[in-house]
Amino acid sequence: MKGKFITFEGSEGSGKSTQIELTCKHLKANKKQILFVREPGGVKISEKIRDILLDVKNTNMSDECETLLYMAARAQLVKEVILPALRQGKIVLCDRFLDSTIAYQGYGNGVDVDKIKKIGDFATNSIKPDLTIIFDIDTAKGLSRTSRIKDRIEQRTIAYHKRVRKGYLELAKKESKRIRLITVNKSIEDIQAIVKQHVDKLLKI
Ligand SMILES: Nc1ncnc2c1ncn2[C@@H]1O[C@H](COP(=O)(O)OP(=O)(O)O)[C@@H](O)[C@H]1O
Ligand SMILES: [Mg+2]
Repeated sequence: MKGKFITFEGSEGSGKSTQIELTCKHLKANKKQILFVREPGGVKISEKIRDILLDVKNTNMSDECETLLYMAARAQLVKEVILPALRQGKIVLCDRFLDSTIAYQGYGNGVDVDKIKKIGDFATNSIKPDLTIIFDIDTAKGLSRTSRIKDRIEQRTIAYHKRVRKGYLELAKKESKRIRLITVNKSIEDIQAIVKQHVDKLLKI
């Protein structure tokens, strides 16, 4: 693949969207061709699946259904836009990817992580991020930074969100080649400086 694939991960309110926006600006300033997408969603079909996933009215959704819907949304996003962009040599920046399903549905809900990885391999056409940045923040602090109207996942218990955080920390340990962990105890600018270092190293900027 000619392009590069960078994913931004972390719990609620950890600063993913803030940092991805700044990174896009940085890359555009360096005349890079980029594609920025978010999960779940990013394309029409996947955004429809997103609505189902985040709808607070869907109180009885099974863990299996939830896992597969995230994967379905991802599969469509990969085929429709991520793969073509990578083939064209673009830098793809994605707000969440497969690691989110491992952290939220695996560590959070207790779905078997090996099964998630197998289904994930199918859903993603076996593409893997070249670089993943995980933002780690104290769970309560992160949640306090999200909007007051919570979606179906955000409104889960603090214990759930703590398991998600633990999942991310374990992923970072297990896949230290691909994943860079950033502790969010600094200003947006200071965090962006660290993000830039990792991104610039990958892209040889
Ligand atoms: N390093 C930081 N210090 C203080 N506030 C931050 C920092 N990073 C992000 N924020 C703020 O926290 C809130 C959540 O950030 P956001 O990027 O939306 O997180 P996420 O996308 O991970 O849920 C936003 O209001 C953002 O401005
Ligand atoms: Mg966000």
